[in-house]
Amino acid sequence: MQIKLKKLVPRPVESLLEFRAALGQFATGITIITCCDKGIPKGIVANSFASVSMDPPLVLWSPAKVSRRYNAFITAQNYSIHILSNKQKHICDAFSEAADAFDGLDWKTNKDGVPILSNCLARIDCHQYAQYPGGDHTIIVGHVDFFDYTAGEPLIFQQGNFSNIKLSKASTDQLVATKESAAI
Ligand SMILES: Cc1cc2nc3c(=O)[nH]c(=O)nc-3n(C[C@H](O)[C@H](O)[C@H](O)COP(=O)(O)O)c2cc1C
Repeated sequence: MQIKLKKLVPRPVESLLEFRAALGQFATGITIITCCDKGIPKGIVANSFASVSMDPPLVLWSPAKVSRRYNAFITAQNYSIHILSNKQKHICDAFSEAADAFDGLDWKTNKDGVPILSNCLARIDCHQYAQYPGGDHTIIVGHVDFFDYTAGEPLIFQQGNFSNIKLSKASTDQLVATKESAAI
């Protein structure tokens, strides 16, 4: 089959919209990244999260420079990344609306003063390791200090829509078994 590739040009805007649509075909999970900004707990929805390295343990994500939350996350020395389950779409909605959407959620602070959300599929506590230019975003690399996870099904984002996938029972059993053996 012949595929006709589209050339990306910054203008017209339709080209950028199509570029977005192409990127949107990459299904991701959803994370809430939290930090403490001058004593105020803040959070942001991010699907730019990715794992980077096992040794040292590194992860990345990228905040947009236009975001009003950008400065808080660029300057935060510590932050937590929460991977949402398919039962936590309301948390995504809340932090899409506002950075301080903690009211009514089950949360506390960790030893570094970072607000942490309960009952997420995974939580990864980081300190700032490196930052790299990424166009209209900045790529933040975090060094992982602590993590926890549980079995469950993730909230999925693709082509602008939220959905969930049903994991086979075998894979959730395996996750729990792996965690139990890791704890021995
Ligand atoms: C599914 C989803 C994924 C997002 N991923 C990112 C991201 O990776 N980086 C980012 O800066 N903003 C991301 N956003 C946007 C922010 O969560 C937030 O809505 C935006 O920063 C709002 O602007 P404000 O910070 O000026 O209020 C995402 C939003 C959604 C709904």
